[in-house]
Amino acid sequence: MRNSKIIGMGFYIPPKVVTNRDLAKLMDTSDEWIRERTGIVERHYADEGNGPASLAKIAVERALADAQLETKDLDLMIFATLSPDYTFPGSGCVLQSLMEFPHIAAIDIRAQCSGFIYSLAIADQFIKTGMYNRVLVVGAEVHSTGIEFATRGRDVTVLFGDGAGAVILGPSEDPRVGILSHHLHADGRHYNKLWVECPGCVYTPRLTQEMVTSGRWYPKMDGKFIFRHAVEGMSRVIMEALQANNYTLADLDLLVPHQANLRINQMVAKMLSIPEDKVFNNIMKYGNTTAATIPICLCEAREEGKLKPGQLVCLASFGSGLTWASSLIRW
Ligand code: ACO
Repeated sequence: MRNSKIIGMGFYIPPKVVTNRDLAKLMDTSDEWIRERTGIVERHYADEGNGPASLAKIAVERALADAQLETKDLDLMIFATLSPDYTFPGSGCVLQSLMEFPHIAAIDIRAQCSGFIYSLAIADQFIKTGMYNRVLVVGAEVHSTGIEFATRGRDVTVLFGDGAGAVILGPSEDPRVGILSHHLHADGRHYNKLWVECPGCVYTPRLTQEMVTSGRWYPKMDGKFIFRHAVEGMSRVIMEALQANNYTLADLDLLVPHQANLRINQMVAKMLSIPEDKVFNNIMKYGNTTAATIPICLCEAREEGKLKPGQLVCLASFGSGLTWASSLIRW
């Protein structure tokens, strides 16, 4: 079986910046509270009328240019998002309406903050088996249209930002280079510890005035529970990736963790004794962009000279579901 590797990457962050102080005008919070508890300084919101597919379009154009490919060269698209443009069809199909694609399959993946790693793992299997040669993996989110700009929703609202990232996977000519493994997990027992309940197909009708007024269509989170499980889950899944490939923490050159809270990533690094300069964080600028986070981080890490050929790179995520995952890559 052949290895796959990332052959192109791109990202897009909408220009509108929203600072902690901007949010403090709308709800009872403060710049100090948000920075101290989360590390976030600002985030970006999409302009009205733009869903994840339109943010993704620019990220995909950039990834294609980076790989020196065109949409006609792609064999499959996988689109990870928890904030799809519409209930159905999936955002992959919406993206196809915005760009010229051949009639390739468009798969939407719903694994929240682990959506990108889950999607990368699926793409990798298609390349490994030889079924496809060029697979587009997209992560894109527009959170800003579904969070509550009032004190009631402040715990969640301050965390999220909008953005998109995309990578293109292709076969690796060198069997030592590319994706080494994925470890994917979920524990659905805790599905409602971080969720958006409404509108829901379990309800008749799916959407009521009561749901709107009670705020059940906004994300709800047991923050402390998620925090604790994120630290444990990410630490475990990083070790699982290294051990499965007979590496130790000393072999790791770069950890690219999901960006949900800087304090989570700092605790993971501390627990595993990974030096801070080996952990890539950009949550300060973007907040939690969920499925878009890891591809955005990869692009920025490369731009900043922190991601180089030959390095051993671990991607790790934790999020709603609960889902958690890692990928180990020889870059
Ligand atoms: N501003 C000011 N005060 C706030 C805010 C805010 N934005 N949010 C909560 N508070 C208040 C609370 O109401 C509480 O007040 P009280 O003591 O009077 O009741 C106090 O601050 C402490 O609240 P906690 O929830 O205990 O605060 P904590 O230190 O746990 O931090 C946080 C909250 C930042 C949300 C943290 O729990 C967290 O980051 N959790 C994990 C988030 C995460 O990883 N999500 C997963 C990924 S997202 C995905 O998958 C979609």
